[in-house]
Amino acid sequence: MLRWCLLRLYHIVTLVLCISAREDFDWTKSERTAFFYGTFPTGFTWGAGSSAYQTEGAWNVDGKGMSIWDAFSHKKGKIFQNETGDSSCDGFYKFKEDINLMKEMKLNHYRFSISWPRILPSGLKGESINEKGIKYYNGLINMLLENKITPIVTLYHWDLPQVLQEKYGGWQNISMVNYFNDFANLCFERFGSRVKYWITFNNPWSIAVEGYETGEHAPGLKMKGTGAYRAAHHIIKAHAKVWHTYDTGWRSKQKGLVGISLTADWGEPVDTSNQRDIEAAERYIQFYLGWFATPIFNGDYPQVMKDYIGRKSGQQGLGASRLPVFSAQEKSYIKGTCDFLGLGHFTTRYVTQKNYPSSIGDSYLADRDLAELVDPKWPDPGSEWLYSVPWGFRRLLNFVKSQYGNPMIYVTENGVSEKTLCTDLCDDWRMQYFKDYINEMLKAIKDGVNVKGYTAWSLLDNFEWDEGYSERFGLYYVDFRNKNKPRYPKASVQYYKRIISSNGFPNQREVESWKRKSIETCSSSNQLLAAARRKSQGGQEHSGMQKTWPVHDEV
Ligand code: NOJ
Repeated sequence: MLRWCLLRLYHIVTLVLCISAREDFDWTKSERTAFFYGTFPTGFTWGAGSSAYQTEGAWNVDGKGMSIWDAFSHKKGKIFQNETGDSSCDGFYKFKEDINLMKEMKLNHYRFSISWPRILPSGLKGESINEKGIKYYNGLINMLLENKITPIVTLYHWDLPQVLQEKYGGWQNISMVNYFNDFANLCFERFGSRVKYWITFNNPWSIAVEGYETGEHAPGLKMKGTGAYRAAHHIIKAHAKVWHTYDTGWRSKQKGLVGISLTADWGEPVDTSNQRDIEAAERYIQFYLGWFATPIFNGDYPQVMKDYIGRKSGQQGLGASRLPVFSAQEKSYIKGTCDFLGLGHFTTRYVTQKNYPSSIGDSYLADRDLAELVDPKWPDPGSEWLYSVPWGFRRLLNFVKSQYGNPMIYVTENGVSEKTLCTDLCDDWRMQYFKDYINEMLKAIKDGVNVKGYTAWSLLDNFEWDEGYSERFGLYYVDFRNKNKPRYPKASVQYYKRIISSNGFPNQREVESWKRKSIETCSSSNQLLAAARRKSQGGQEHSGMQKTWPVHDEV
């Protein structure tokens, strides 16, 4: 413990010294904090996101099979306060109401995911197709389209059918490639006449590292140093197979696009004049984003991953690298399987070199030989890991442009949470976060990055995985203690609505009035929420909340 504290102190001191001594990159020098007034290209699309397990609830309703998240959250001690997604926001029942919320914000698109076991309860297409599940997604898709909201659909946002985990070991097993392909093919067949944007996987880094390395997420396995690499290998192959399935079987008829959504923090060298820090920051990002993006865009794992994991495996006396290898045939099959890149981004880290001796054992984290640091001055209003560092977003977007041939990018997730038990709907910090991050995205577009759309995470407060309901990312507050799960707009709803209707930040005078105007509308919502809570605490079940909360117009 003492060693840890001293090490941490050393890191903070070094960080403070280095930050004050270092020079910025030229291309951000004048604009790192300056606000850029301007608008987005015509046709830029604005949306909000969700995922099935985090919002739908109805975990065992209408023939849905069990997912690894149902099983994981039902085990004691896995989730904050042993909460589960059993009912969550009841999105399964309330999607019409939620579409009204989207309409009022004038969203152009809505990103959601399809629960694999809701459609294929055992995971296998050959066994049984749950038509009731299909009907639910048809209703959602049709109503979105009737309201001119484009569906962007994720096929896998972490809820693998539990049967596939139990029988085959989930993503450790290569057979998932074909099973996932069958499921995706069914989705193309049933929904593809109306869905034109498909995302195969959401944040495979998290599936691999948190699911199979640290075990914080379902299926909760701790296969250190090997599990994450194997899971990722199979996920990349599954992604490529699904892209080919669409390309050969559906594209000419349906004319849609298939991409993947990768999430990455930006990694900035602590000292930009120190070669070891520069290389450590490069490794940080290559082990994060590059792990998936490099095979998909360039045909193989990043060289630095092959070098580091290969060398460490050798030092550990292993005959082969713990990082699996793609054959030449596989490389060319995988390369180029992305019509657009979905990008999720929330935060940034400073990075410095740190050697991990092989004696501490195998692990993905140790393979990188680096330490992550944060600037104590960075705002961190919500989740422990989430510091607001807007300039990192622009750098990440430029990194994607230069490394992967300037692909078409849809930002599929970006947002900020608030701390446990916060019931303040006047979310000043979220408005600031959106303003600054969206502005950095605008600067990136001016740099030439090909960003086509932005998706705020998330439409509603929802089940934040192992953190349960303690971290709220929503534009809308959900009162989870009330059985009707009413939604209340936070001030950021108004703020985001203004960004959307102006397609950016038109001029200083106007933008500066947005926060004040948005705040004016939230104090009444605060009062209503407080009154509803008092009422339900007084023993009466609250049921009178109006179905769609009015989103006020310009004041
Ligand atoms: C990324 C995940 O895809 C999403 O499900 C999660 O809620 C956000 N990160 C925030 O942690």
